Amino acid sequence: MNDPEHLHQNILYSLIDGVLLVSPSLIIQEANLTVEDLFHRSRESFIHRSLEELFPHQSHVLDKVRKVLVTGACYHDVEAEGVRNTPSSRFPVNLTLSPFLETDDSIKGVVVLVKNMSLIREMEERQRPTDHLNRFGEITLGMAHEIRNPLGGIRGSAQLLRQEITSSSHQEYLDVVISEVDRIDRLVKSMMDLARPLDLKIKPTNIHKVLEEILMLEKDSLTRKKGRFEQKYDPSLPLIKADEDQLKQVFLNLIKNAIEASRKGGKIQIVTRVGSGYMTKAATSPIPQQNIVIEIIDSGEGIDEENQKKLFTPFHTTKKKGSGLGLPVSLKIIEDHNGKVKITSEKGLGTTVQVFLPIQ
Ligand SMILES: Nc1ncnc2c1ncn2[C@@H]1O[C@H](COP(=O)(O)OP(=O)(O)OP(=O)(O)O)[C@@H](O)[C@H]1O
Ligand SMILES: [Mg+2]
Repeated sequence: MNDPEHLHQNILYSLIDGVLLVSPSLIIQEANLTVEDLFHRSRESFIHRSLEELFPHQSHVLDKVRKVLVTGACYHDVEAEGVRNTPSSRFPVNLTLSPFLETDDSIKGVVVLVKNMSLIREMEERQRPTDHLNRFGEITLGMAHEIRNPLGGIRGSAQLLRQEITSSSHQEYLDVVISEVDRIDRLVKSMMDLARPLDLKIKPTNIHKVLEEILMLEKDSLTRKKGRFEQKYDPSLPLIKADEDQLKQVFLNLIKNAIEASRKGGKIQIVTRVGSGYMTKAATSPIPQQNIVIEIIDSGEGIDEENQKKLFTPFHTTKKKGSGLGLPVSLKIIEDHNGKVKITSEKGLGTTVQVFLPIQ
């Protein structure tokens, strides 16, 4: 490790992004392990071959590499597509090109940094509802205030009346009034949460503690379905900076959904791990961040394709008593933490919800 050549080699092989060294005739001379992982190819299949092997029919990439060789300038954020052969597929990458300089400052090649953008692109596509929420938000905030005031009056009067009335059947009617008023109040509050920027109380947070609290709260309703939770926690998971109460709200929503979708005897897995890929810190900031991933995996009824498109749309629900605000509120909270939510599901087989939260 002390030998500088070894050290450099180790750094190169430890990098999470792919690194290629390309000669002036655009031949790949060196590559780190990540390149093999990214392209699903063995080193032998591309070393000493043209850069075109990995980026076929993308003249803009080759043109830029040539320009680096001539001018010595660097290029950032070059969008390209990596090509895999087995199975044949394409995936989005972001390239950084810089000259490979000799000690006498002459250009001996080009260093190409390859960042896998698959996850980020996929999630960006799924995050479309954000604009929708903003428009929705403007109207909501105004209305919510007007609705909550008279609700308080209705609830107070119903409670007074309940104390005055002696007939138990009439008391039950008033109990219904009170509980329904509470339901509207919770709904309006969720709508307000969606509409305005959250006032996050950020502090170092142990995500396992958050999850355990929610699992304890919800254990009984899963036991009633003869199901069970199975935790697979990564003990090395670092603390993250987050608003603990808001995250509890998120995982309560997600776990409730998983339980509601579960069939008799169903298992719900809760998995935590450190993310292997990068994600952008925020839409406005291109600084890459390492993240933690929390997965809630149920083997319940699953979601058909049509409904998968609407999951984050406010008020979309397939449940008799659902409000359709659980997922949009959760997405909003996670986005306010600069995180992402990804849902994959297959009808009849189950659903996996992945929550990505930046470590810093
Ligand atoms: N784990 C899951 N399995 C199957 N379907 C799900 C799952 N999670 C969400 N859904 C689907 O997404 C819809 C929207 O979920 P969301 O949590 O936003 O609202 P809801 O659960 O219907 O109501 P609320 O959470 O407000 O009580 C659900 O009605 C359901 O159809
Ligand atoms: Mg829900």
